[in-house]
Amino acid sequence: MNHMDSVIAIDGPAGSGKSTVAREIAKILGIHYLDSGAFYRTLTLAVFKYYKASGSEQVFADWVAEKQNILPLDQWLIRLDFGHGDENKLFLNSEDVTNQIRTPEITEKIKYIADKQIFRDFVNERIRVLARDNKLVMDGRDIGTEVFPNSRNKFFLTASPEVRAKRRMDELISKKIPADWEEVYSEMVKRDDSDRNRKIAPLLAAKDAILIDTDSLSIKLVIETILSRILESKS
Ligand code: DC
Repeated sequence: MNHMDSVIAIDGPAGSGKSTVAREIAKILGIHYLDSGAFYRTLTLAVFKYYKASGSEQVFADWVAEKQNILPLDQWLIRLDFGHGDENKLFLNSEDVTNQIRTPEITEKIKYIADKQIFRDFVNERIRVLARDNKLVMDGRDIGTEVFPNSRNKFFLTASPEVRAKRRMDELISKKIPADWEEVYSEMVKRDDSDRNRKIAPLLAAKDAILIDTDSLSIKLVIETILSRILESKS
């Protein structure tokens, strides 16, 4: 399949609204949504399960850095099921880990995986296999820059850290998970920092991506903007 037209890339920082927008666009166009972050989450879970030991964050980070080339990546069967227009379902060696990969314990550790080429290659290979046979809307950090640089439909969503942290708070509250503003805000800023400053495939808008600031735009308007650009690019 020619990725110029078959992949719609929606990149941006955490809380920019990209996953909601990507899911809706996939529904409207009748194609699949792929959450690339879920792959990084599942791989992080696999590495963490294999690590077994306890210890500080730093001990884990050092262990991953030392073992990255000898981890049994081939034995970790990660499968993504597109689901039905909503969240993707992720399986690790047949176990449904869709909920496990969202815990703060895993979220905090992803940066030690996402900054290493060997793990990025592992994830990218799997994403590219899925894109061989499917038209996809993908959200992530580097889809437009690294994974599908030839795609004709690239979007980069932004929003201020305050607005993004507020969205995260609302999401936690709606799920009845206790939420503390200071904590949510500082987590958001920390994650931005590790996403933007990673040496390999950092969070970055592709030169030919369309930038959309979602601070004062409704989700509906963001979706309309993206859909109209996709239609334009076809004509
Ligand atoms: O989209 P998310 O917040 O679930 O992603 C979790 C982490 O995965 C994110 O902080 C960095 C990493 N990630 C990445 O490095 N590249 C991607 N394309 C998607 C996610």
